[in-house]
Amino acid sequence: MLSLAVLISGGGSNLKALLDAAADPDYPARIVAVFADTDAPGLAHAAAAGVPTAVVRPSDFPSRDAWGEALAEGIRATGAGLVVSAGLMRILPAGFVRAFSPRLINTHPALLPLYPGAHAVRDALAAGAVETGVTVHIIDEGVDTGPVLRQERVAVRAGESESELHERIKRVERPLLVDTVRDIATGALTLSAAEPEHTTTPYPHP
Ligand code: GRF
Repeated sequence: MLSLAVLISGGGSNLKALLDAAADPDYPARIVAVFADTDAPGLAHAAAAGVPTAVVRPSDFPSRDAWGEALAEGIRATGAGLVVSAGLMRILPAGFVRAFSPRLINTHPALLPLYPGAHAVRDALAAGAVETGVTVHIIDEGVDTGPVLRQERVAVRAGESESELHERIKRVERPLLVDTVRDIATGALTLSAAEPEHTTTPYPHP
């Protein structure tokens, strides 16, 4: 059984999808703790499932590195075997990444390497993209640059807003994250920063 620490900043619908999946005895992962950088509404999903939560605020520390070290200590104490960033809207410090990568993954609402960063959906619309999607990837020391594990495409509809498109992406993102974690837990997908056979052609797809 793979134990997960999940990192969030917002509503936590991806976290909720993982919690719901983990409620099935056949799902090979369990969430042992949820960490947020702020009073994220999504923490309520963890509390409702009886999963311990902690808020570790960057403003309580003298530097980003010190914040990252405190977060790392909290995660180590849970014994989690995989750290899942599921809507954490902060760049993790290099020391934190070195401590956990490649057993540190992120979900991103675009087909990386296109549209990295905090405004991926807005950027795809601004670029006039006809297609975008979602990527689950290993976190490395760059911003959304780590090895791709899984991707799914989402067509952009004419005239749709950023929030409409993001919601449609999230409907694809949640099951993709659940499936990717399952595959990591079963060993169908191994995590290594240097195993290109586990990446997929990011874009365009055939
Ligand atoms: C997701 O689309 C994630 O990829 C992005 O922020 C969103 C978080 O959604 N970084 P939620 O909080 O899981 O609903």
